[in-house]
Amino acid sequence: MGSHSVLVFPAGMPSALTWARHASESGMRVVGASSLTNDPARPKYSEWIVLPWIGDVDFADALTCCVREQNIDAVFSEHPVVWRTLRDLLPKTARNVRLEPQPWQAELSDYRGYRDIAASFLREPLQLAAAGCIEPAMPLPQLAALVRVFQLVPGQCDHAKLEALTAIFRWMPPGDIVEIGSLWGRSAVALAFLSRHYNIGKLLCVDPWRTEEIHQGIPAVDVVFDHAPMDEIFEAFRMNLAPFQGLVNYSRTRSSDAASLYSSAHCFTTEDFGRTGYTGEIALLHIDGNHAIEAVREDIAQWRHFVRAGGWIVFDDYCWPFGDGPRIAADDFSLEFNRNLTAQFSAGGALFVQVGSAHARNS
Ligand SMILES: C[S@@+](CC[C@H](N)C(=O)[O-])C[C@H]1O[C@@H](n2cnc3c(N)ncnc32)[C@H](O)[C@@H]1O
Repeated sequence: MGSHSVLVFPAGMPSALTWARHASESGMRVVGASSLTNDPARPKYSEWIVLPWIGDVDFADALTCCVREQNIDAVFSEHPVVWRTLRDLLPKTARNVRLEPQPWQAELSDYRGYRDIAASFLREPLQLAAAGCIEPAMPLPQLAALVRVFQLVPGQCDHAKLEALTAIFRWMPPGDIVEIGSLWGRSAVALAFLSRHYNIGKLLCVDPWRTEEIHQGIPAVDVVFDHAPMDEIFEAFRMNLAPFQGLVNYSRTRSSDAASLYSSAHCFTTEDFGRTGYTGEIALLHIDGNHAIEAVREDIAQWRHFVRAGGWIVFDDYCWPFGDGPRIAADDFSLEFNRNLTAQFSAGGALFVQVGSAHARNS
């Protein structure tokens, strides 16, 4: 996207619309073009041209005229047949006009990227000496699909943490998965995907999705979230998790309120995800909410009793450049239950601990 005036043709294809929006947002002048006289995509573009169908005898002349009059310096086409025609035509009729790369190439390169990351997880798998039975690693196509859905969701979880999650799910007993702090749902889609694959249990995502709750007493971080559009992010979270309906629900509350409800009812109902029953025993607790030390301590205190023997707790941002609340709170937990943890390691900035069998509910 290095040019200034770009012609999008045909302008109505879904990915053409997305590309045009991104181009326009990045400051480019975008002109939509179509061979349909009443193209429904017309209102999406501020400038519009009607071109003949590519098979018509006057197409080449009309295109040449259009790029000259409109000062076009690049053309984007999502349609493979149109792209091929333009590739042959533009060097003859408008030599200075660049054709954006073939759509398949860009898409294939994304898919190669997902596959390569997945393959790297399998090439040198994390060797964990955890308690319980180990399940086989996810096969490459599924793992690549997991990387893809994970990457499509905005968020702060990285590949190293995803890899560690794929490793601990192989050692996961059945039970509920509880995530404190979901934001757009990046880690949540990974948890749902892995839980479905290994048949672990239902996922509960707890997050107030409210600007005032996101403050953690760290000015550099708080200022970024001061104007975060939390209602829209919440809506995006629900879109991202919608494919896992039946396996997932959420609680738009603080973690402490959700813990009370979880303890008493084991059941959460929302308008869009319906009613989800939980077992009351947590196989994986992901603590990624408010990172202020008191908040992490409260999350641990409220939820740790539900974690079953052989279950895992993931303390996010254990290594965090903006504050040491998660690290101190997680270290205190590890010290207190030191003799009761069957595995412990750090990856992707998070601390992963597996809770041993002596970790009783009244501990
Ligand atoms: C670091 S983000 C979560 C990132 C997410 N797990 C991901 O994969 O991108 C922290 C989230 O914690 C939420 N949060 C803040 N206070 C909370 C609380 N008391 N209980 C639950 N969630 C909270 C915030 O609304 C925010 O969405």
